[in-house]
Amino acid sequence: MPLPIINFGSCCIDHVYSVDHFVHPGETLPCAHYEVHPGGKGLNQSIALAKAGAQVVHAGRIGQDGTWLSNLLRAHKVDTHLLLVDEDPTGHANIQVSDSGENAIVLFGGANRKITPDDVDLVLAEAQRGQFILLQNEISSLDYLVEQALKKDLRVVLNAAPMGNNIKELPLTDLDLLFINEIEGEALTGATEPEGILNILKASIPDTGVVLTLGQQGSIYQRGEVQTEQRSALVDVVDSTGAGDTFTGFFLASYQREVSIQDCLRSASLAAGISVTRKGAASSIPETRELDNAVQSLTARS
Ligand code: RIB
Repeated sequence: MPLPIINFGSCCIDHVYSVDHFVHPGETLPCAHYEVHPGGKGLNQSIALAKAGAQVVHAGRIGQDGTWLSNLLRAHKVDTHLLLVDEDPTGHANIQVSDSGENAIVLFGGANRKITPDDVDLVLAEAQRGQFILLQNEISSLDYLVEQALKKDLRVVLNAAPMGNNIKELPLTDLDLLFINEIEGEALTGATEPEGILNILKASIPDTGVVLTLGQQGSIYQRGEVQTEQRSALVDVVDSTGAGDTFTGFFLASYQREVSIQDCLRSASLAAGISVTRKGAASSIPETRELDNAVQSLTARS
């Protein structure tokens, strides 16, 4: 039995507004449809990992208003004993979703930004050499967390979202896996095309497995000279929020099981493809059994 994957990440309450266009500066935009969903890249990825069959311990911070999020994690069999509850409000996101399924997000970190080096030490005290730890860029003390996790010889997996200058300062060369999309890839390398992004990363971080997601254009895994590509399923996009989180969770769960990289990419891409056909982030993540049906019903072009 592999050790559980530690996901040290954000939990958010997502306030989702359906709009026909994103609000312009100075404009007041009426919205006919509003929903509240569970979210935060950390929580979404923990649920995706769990749905993909991995054992997960979620570490992080929420406020009293976020206990329904920890209940939800537990309902998905995610271990929450390292998810601290205190007086700071839970992080929240204000998300506009357009008719074409694109989103624009304003994020308030709340308790996610109250994570301290002491919290990190508490969590890592339980970690064992070789254990996977998954991270995103929505919590405080990320630099200390990466440094200490590497010091303990954990296998550090980073989803570089949302991109920030702090990501460039991290020891990316020592990560096991780095998940980026094209925008994050451009911010890291200056290159605008997938080929340019991957060429630069091959030279700068040759030992790190880079997973570049390209939305409807598919995804590419690269480690050194080895590259594996996967096309995306063709779907009608309703809401793309959380698609990257779904992809990351399904990929990592398969990767931990040591299946082929092509299979990791295939299941991640199918799961993300299903998630964008539904509203919400965590709420849109499919069950594993749905992937089998999807292979038949979606036009998977791999
Ligand atoms: O990746 C999607 C997530 O980003 C949303 O659930 C929102 O909370 C933001 O953190």
